[in-house]
Amino acid sequence: MTHVLLDRAAATPHDTNNSDDVAASRHDINSTSHAVDRMLTIAVFSQKGGAGKSTLAVHLAVAASVSMKVVLIDADPQATVATWAADRAKHSPFVARAESSTIEQLLASARDEGYDLAIIDCPPHAAPGTAALLRSADHVVIPAQPTMPDLTATARSVALARAAGKQFSFVVNRAPSRAPEVSQAIEALRTGAPVAPVVIGDRRAFSRALTDGLAVTEFASSTSKAATEINGYWQWLYAQIRREQWQRQQAVA
Ligand SMILES: Nc1ncnc2c1ncn2[C@@H]1O[C@H](COP(=O)(O)OP(=O)(O)OP(=O)(O)O)[C@@H](O)[C@H]1O
Ligand SMILES: [Mg+2]
Repeated sequence: MTHVLLDRAAATPHDTNNSDDVAASRHDINSTSHAVDRMLTIAVFSQKGGAGKSTLAVHLAVAASVSMKVVLIDADPQATVATWAADRAKHSPFVARAESSTIEQLLASARDEGYDLAIIDCPPHAAPGTAALLRSADHVVIPAQPTMPDLTATARSVALARAAGKQFSFVVNRAPSRAPEVSQAIEALRTGAPVAPVVIGDRRAFSRALTDGLAVTEFASSTSKAATEINGYWQWLYAQIRREQWQRQQAVA
């Protein structure tokens, strides 16, 4: 099933990622000193409902699609990402559904078909298959809003990421502007894992984009604060994960 879907994605005439452009820009990305010649898999996960998993998964996938061949995997029965894709005219990133029992097969198909990046939107709460989803990833992104319930809930998310043996990082999402709790949240999270230096603001553009089958980077104003935040966050996250991979390679060399 996944092969057929992935083949169709590669052939779609509406794909904004012209394959030559993608191949050329992929070369640029992979020519860093941290290059690893295989598909990267990122799970966006938090046990806290409404932390911003789906919003960030979609936005990271679209931002990365500018220079990579990306599959965005909806592993949440709520199907937020699949619903977003149904309202979307563009066929990039390619969206597929999966669950814990099918995730490895889907990722294997994507690898075979030359995808550079898979982003998994995980369900909230400790669904039975969550551990398998996290194990399939190279890195777990844990979004947290700068509020006490979200920050407290990160402990359980961290425990699951650790149990899966994965490196993880935090990103502060839905941050109010100029609020002291944002820097306090960053300080609190920093004790457990890397925290993205780019904070994602509480902006209506993010929810509007999802309603319209878009990402904020696809709005007319690609220099908006929301677009700048997402692009900056993706650049940091990509470099962070490549650094981790490089450090792991050095450790076993
Ligand atoms: N940075 C943001 N600015 C404004 N609204 C946001 C932002 N991030 C998320 N939201 C809104 O918060 C709500 C929850 O976001 P989202 O669905 O991405 O969370 P989730 O963690 O995937 O939720 P669930 O646990 O139910 O899967 C949505 O209405 C979304 O539009
Ligand atoms: Mg969601």
